Amino acid sequence: MNLTTRLPGLTLKNPVMPASGCFGFGKEYSQFYDLSELGAIIVKAATGEARYGNPTPRVAETSSGMLNAIGLQNPGVEKIIDEELPFLRSYDTPVIANVAGSTVEEYIKVTEALNRSEDISALELNISCPNVKEGGVQFGTDPSLAKEVTFKVKEASNYPVYVKMSPNVSNIVEMAKAVADAGADGLSMINTLTGMQMNLKQRKPIIANKTGGLSGPAIKPIAIRMIYEVRQSLDIPIIGMGGIITAEDALEFLLAGADAVAVGTANFQNPLACPDIINDLPRVLKQYGFDSVEDAIGKGHV
Ligand SMILES: Cc1cc2nc3c(=O)[nH]c(=O)nc-3n(C[C@H](O)[C@H](O)[C@H](O)COP(=O)(O)O)c2cc1C
Repeated sequence: MNLTTRLPGLTLKNPVMPASGCFGFGKEYSQFYDLSELGAIIVKAATGEARYGNPTPRVAETSSGMLNAIGLQNPGVEKIIDEELPFLRSYDTPVIANVAGSTVEEYIKVTEALNRSEDISALELNISCPNVKEGGVQFGTDPSLAKEVTFKVKEASNYPVYVKMSPNVSNIVEMAKAVADAGADGLSMINTLTGMQMNLKQRKPIIANKTGGLSGPAIKPIAIRMIYEVRQSLDIPIIGMGGIITAEDALEFLLAGADAVAVGTANFQNPLACPDIINDLPRVLKQYGFDSVEDAIGKGHV
């Protein structure tokens, strides 16, 4: 079974990669399996300076997923380039760096810094983090801001740029068109949905930040609907994500129009989630009548 899939700047041996923020920089997971099995790796967000994230508690389990308000904790882009990315060099797997910031200037600073790294193949522009006070999600919910930051990052970058879309909008196609017009090479969709959960004993929200990003199986139908809508009106490559746990889930995303998929929350429940999906994918493709991954992409459109 041919699992290859092609995206701008990336030829993937299979379509499965861990999603940003759910895999750190790979070290912990490398103790469980050979990271060369992965189609690609999307690493944790990089900001201009180190960030310590939001106060705790900042994660909570929900009935079909999780809420998180980590707040883009990371050691800063320079340390990521010098101390984290070189570890991934020994694996036969392309690395996608995730770029975040509070201002357009910070996004550009991080992008320019990443130009000096030879350990990455593409950028994922995170304009959709719901858990930081400034920047983050407002770039991903206002089409003109999304357009501006995409254009400027694209101009500053030596690498293909995938823009990570926020689902916290009423018109995803309008947002996708804005970033495609600004020159995005591809889209990553979706990030988490803003949610809240109460602590009954304390009579207040469980998460110290009050709201958090909802991920996991609860958001899968929303992700699939949004990918389907964007694919229907735009011809732009898509990395799909949101609640994928099984190879069947991954196939649903391919049918909706994703060219590859990312797995986030499932890694916390099962560190082998990605290799399990990769190993099962040939059986599932065959069962539903497909000869390759590329054969399945977009076939769910009626
Ligand atoms: C704990 C946690 C941290 C995350 N951190 C990031 C991040 O740094 N950058 C980013 O673009 N997305 C981040 N995300 C969003 C995921 O990459 C993914 O888009 C989302 O969780 C949906 O996929 P899933 O349902 O498979 O988890 C994070 C998600 C979780 C659960």
